[in-house]
Amino acid sequence: MFRLVTTLALCAWSTIALAGDGAFSTHLFAKFQTKGCTICHDFFEPQRNGLAFGNHKGRSPEMCTACHRKDVTGFDHPEEWFAQPGLYTSGMDAVQTCEATKTALHAKFKSTALMKRQLRKHLFEDPRVLWGIEGATPLSGMLPNGKLEPDLIKGGLPLWKKQVEEWLEHGMQCR
Ligand code: HEC
Ligand code: HEC
Repeated sequence: MFRLVTTLALCAWSTIALAGDGAFSTHLFAKFQTKGCTICHDFFEPQRNGLAFGNHKGRSPEMCTACHRKDVTGFDHPEEWFAQPGLYTSGMDAVQTCEATKTALHAKFKSTALMKRQLRKHLFEDPRVLWGIEGATPLSGMLPNGKLEPDLIKGGLPLWKKQVEEWLEHGMQCR
């Protein structure tokens, strides 16, 4: 019995060790694709049924904070609740999600050091990203009318930071 438990524990350990290889597809792909992130990035994408073409039709950028108020989002600057096209969207595979993220940041024109700094800043401090991570702020996932987005990034901020750092350390490769 003891030997079986030890073997199982070793198997589990080696799986975790292998999983920590810093590839975008290992942990980050699934997390980037939670609805808490993509529903906003899809907002102006008609082929992804973006909300701007659905129940948010006709709502101007000036109107967002009338409903997504500070006491709903918890943002220091409520106007940071906004959407724009041209980001990674739902329906992309791991390589596409990763490449689109880099394109949005104009990676082609930046050194690795600058990319890392900007990615850390965005992924660890941007209020919209923190809103999409379960438990990162007391109001993460909160929507107007007492609604809540259920599909947020699970595991909390420390695990998210660890997994992003692994990807950065391995050269931000899109595989
Ligand atoms: C309220 C809408 C909204 C939510 C929620 C949101 N984003 Fe974004 N995201 C944006 C907007 C708008 C931009 C582009 C403007 C900017 O970066 O300030 C952006 C840009 C990005 C970029 C490109 C980097 C950059 O600075 O342009 C990445 C990467 C990103 N978001 C990841 C995420 C992840 C991961 C989540 C979920 C944890 C998420 N976003 C949740 C709206 C959102
Ligand atoms: C009249 C109030 C109102 C306005 C104005 C408004 N929203 Fe919303 N928004 C809501 C409500 C309520 C929800 C909750 C889901 C639903 O009922 O559609 C929501 C949901 C969302 C979601 C989906 C979040 C999720 O995880 O399901 C996004 C993204 C969003 N709004 C972005 C925006 C943006 C960007 C603007 C401005 C262009 C905006 N909203 C303007 C009321 C509003």
